[in-house]
Amino acid sequence: MPTPLLRPWRADDAAALRSAVATTPDLMTQLPVAALATEVACAAFIAEHLAPSDDGGRNLAIVLDGIAVGNVGLSAVDRRHGTAWAFYWVGTSVRGRGLAARALVALSARALDPDGEDLFRLELGHRVNNPASCAVATRAGFVAEGVERAKLAYGGERFDVETHARLRTDPAPSTPPLEVAPGTW
Ligand SMILES: CC(C)(COP(=O)(O)OP(=O)(O)OC[C@H]1O[C@@H](n2cnc3c(N)ncnc32)[C@H](O)[C@@H]1OP(=O)(O)O)[C@@H](O)C(=O)NCCC(=O)NCCS
Repeated sequence: MPTPLLRPWRADDAAALRSAVATTPDLMTQLPVAALATEVACAAFIAEHLAPSDDGGRNLAIVLDGIAVGNVGLSAVDRRHGTAWAFYWVGTSVRGRGLAARALVALSARALDPDGEDLFRLELGHRVNNPASCAVATRAGFVAEGVERAKLAYGGERFDVETHARLRTDPAPSTPPLEVAPGTW
């Protein structure tokens, strides 16, 4: 069986992205799900929003058996302070296998590497009613730092958000990283 890996999103991942959106009911916090109703729309989204950005922001496909089944990424890259925001999702059909945590470990290793993206502090936040995301963050070595009250609004409801961060100087987590395809970074 092929090893799961991270690689850049490609135009031919459109069908896989469409399938993930169609079969995963809780992606609205990560993706504009209503706008991703067709493969054509998914292809356009991949080209416009999942390609690397000039400031170092990036999205990497989590690929299992050759199919893109999730995403891990960095945004809000701040070179002055050496910080960025991390995020992730995986489709319902592949949850519970540790893919998100392993993907976050792999992404973080490169983001914090002085010979890579050379950042110092990676941050992320999850709604306090999202224990799976909290477990992913913790397994990937992101330490909980506190709760921001009513930070995010979804569906007319506001949610408290727990923030986690991982510093370059923090101990490496025991969670093994996903393989990263050559040329990805
Ligand atoms: C968050 C998400 C990536 C987790 O995916 P996953 O495949 O279940 O992740 P993992 O397999 O790596 O591990 C999830 C952990 O949460 C635990 N978990 C899952 N659902 C849980 C629940 N309802 N209550 C408590 N723990 C839960 C699992 O047991 C596992 O813990 P373990 O590693 O100690 O065994 C996935 O649910 C998702 O994509 N959600 C929608 C997008 C999202 O919320 N992204 C994060 C935004 S901050």
